[in-house]
Amino acid sequence: MSAARIDGKAFAAGLRERVAAGVRAFEPATGRKPGLAVVLVGDDPASQVYVRAKGKATLEAGMASFEHRLPDSTRQAELIDLVQSLDADETVDGILVQLPLPGRIDEAAVIAAIDPAKDVDGFTTENAGRLAVGGAAMVPCTPLGCLMLLKDRLGDLTGLEAVVIGRSNIVGKPMAQLLLRENCTVTIAHSRTRDLPAVTRRADIVVAAVGRPEMVKGDWLKPGATVIDVGINRLPKADGGTRLVGDVDYVSASEVAGAITPVPGGVGPMTIAVLLRNTLVAAHRRAGLPPPERL
Ligand code: GUN
Repeated sequence: MSAARIDGKAFAAGLRERVAAGVRAFEPATGRKPGLAVVLVGDDPASQVYVRAKGKATLEAGMASFEHRLPDSTRQAELIDLVQSLDADETVDGILVQLPLPGRIDEAAVIAAIDPAKDVDGFTTENAGRLAVGGAAMVPCTPLGCLMLLKDRLGDLTGLEAVVIGRSNIVGKPMAQLLLRENCTVTIAHSRTRDLPAVTRRADIVVAAVGRPEMVKGDWLKPGATVIDVGINRLPKADGGTRLVGDVDYVSASEVAGAITPVPGGVGPMTIAVLLRNTLVAAHRRAGLPPPERL
């Protein structure tokens, strides 16, 4: 069996077009563009690439982009002051503080300073709590993007067995909450799980978000399972370059799975598209307008 390839790049392009249409309707209704502020501390090369891509995509969607690049030496109190000034800025609908922050800064304290209404990453305790107990949460971008791909592929997820591998606050935990909300039977597996292949083999849906290159093998999967690979790992190549691989061994998995996301071109492009979507939703809520129905 050869699995269908889930084209996250194409889905993300469609979502970005729908967001851009929403932006075009927002401006005449409110007299302003939705605005996203992105804060980067230090010079981590991967974070710089992500932040540049986010700024570019924000402008392409027709939104206002505010970039704040601070030196590695920035003190926690200065960073929190900046976040609080963005909280108070009427032209800013979304605030994203790029993680990881330099080790001496307490990430939780910085995230706690973000106004939950502008928390387009969905990282505040308020939004994590709303996702858990119900209510209008801002949902973290990567897991929401994974859910969109799953629903596009499978339709109603009710009753399906889902195994989420990884228990991070950014992906694993919110992913499990989203799947539970869709009436899946959800297992969160992690590095201490006993007999992970046997657990994964039960799943109709596997979401791998562990950061271990090509860990999930084809013989860990139930035939026909839908596999969402959140991993982005760089492996050295014989010629001295690197190649990008996910947390799933694509070659063996695609012989068993029913459908699978590739790396690159699967979940990756969804994260930024959902960030734009969350910013548009936040802008509507702040302006007292209903968000566009189909996003
Ligand atoms: N670092 C890696 N992924 C993310 C993300 O989704 N949001 C933020 N703020 N930082 C990240």
